[in-house]
Order: sequence, then C-alpha cells, then structure tokens
Amino acid sequence: MMTNNDNIKEHMYLMAEIRKNGYAVRSFRDYSDFLSQIDCVGKTVNKTDVLVDSRYSAQLTSQEAMSAHTDDASVDIIAWYCQSPASEGGESVCVDTRRLPILNDPVGSEKLTQIMVKRPREDDWTKAQLWPLLNRRRVYYAPWLVDREGLREEQEDLLGRFEKELGEVEKYTVKLGESDALFIDNRRILHGRNSFSENESVRRLVRHWVVI
Ligand SMILES: [Fe+2]
Repeated sequence: MMTNNDNIKEHMYLMAEIRKNGYAVRSFRDYSDFLSQIDCVGKTVNKTDVLVDSRYSAQLTSQEAMSAHTDDASVDIIAWYCQSPASEGGESVCVDTRRLPILNDPVGSEKLTQIMVKRPREDDWTKAQLWPLLNRRRVYYAPWLVDREGLREEQEDLLGRFEKELGEVEKYTVKLGESDALFIDNRRILHGRNSFSENESVRRLVRHWVVI
C-alpha cells in the first residue's frame, strides 16, 4: 500500500516528467490509486467518461480518428485513465508544440497571438468567445474552432505554416492498457486519437480536466 510520502515522491517525479516532456504515462493499481495521484496534481474541474455512444455525433463519443487539438484553455493538465482498451487502435497521439519551428521564431509566434480560436464563454457555455491561439507560450487550438473567417491573408498564410508544421512534426503515440493513465500539459501538448475497433473489448477511458 502506498504511504503519503510515496505519493508525494511519485507526484514530484510525475510533475518533473510533465515539465520536461509535456506528457507522462503511469500504471496504477486501480482507479482510486489514480485518483489519489490526481488529487496531488491539482483540482479536477471536469470528469468525463470517454466511450462510444452512437446517440451523439460528437467525435469524442465515436470510433473515428481525432485530429490534434487542445481542450479548453482553462485546463492545465488532462489525464486519461484507461478502464478498458479497444481491441485494435485507439492510440492517443501527442504533438509537442515546443518542437514547432514557428513557436521558436519570435516574429511567427508574435503573429500567432493575433489568430483567434472560438471557445465557450465561462459564464455561458452555449455562447462563444474568441481566444488567442498563442498566449504567453500557452497554446489553444482545435482545427474546427479556429475563427478562419476573421483571418487576413497574411494570417491565413501563418496559420497554414502552423498547421503544416503540426502535420510534419514527430508525434508520440501511446496505447494505454488497463489501469494505465496518460497525463499531458494541455497548454503545450496537442492530443488526438487513432481510429479504433471494438471486436473483443470496449474502449473506455475516464478523462479528468485538472487545474493546477
Ligand atoms: Fe480533446
């Protein structure tokens, strides 16, 4: 059984790895073991079951691939705990934006702060507000939420460069097994998913949005 000291030590290693690489994978005894680590990381502001549900058209509840994006701009860390992996596919795909040349180019990154991405308003989630794609090295991006209509020609070119680099950069792919968890820094790492099939087992993850 883990003592409180073990938990704190584990937490220090986990956060150091996330700071260094932007993500970390851990195996847990069970979900309550995972929860005690999550409590050390920060406050869970949203918890969602991720599983196929044909009643909804959202990508999150489908078996389709999902392109790289961040979740809401208020979320610091996302953690997925795997209750059951898909029979085939369903790997998580991570992209480290710090590896993009455009983010290491002072002129390019300055201009990215002027490209706006839609996000639900905090006081009313049915309404959208605009949020910068880049804000003090913090990335907020989903291809389907970029305010493309509001872009000037120069900004369109810049967004094209950002998206081209996203497509070309090396990606980290992880297939979570039962009781494994993936932690990512949502301010830095974009995440996506490969498509999957569920012949023998049903893919079921629990996603925590954590604020530090
Ligand atoms: Fe997501």
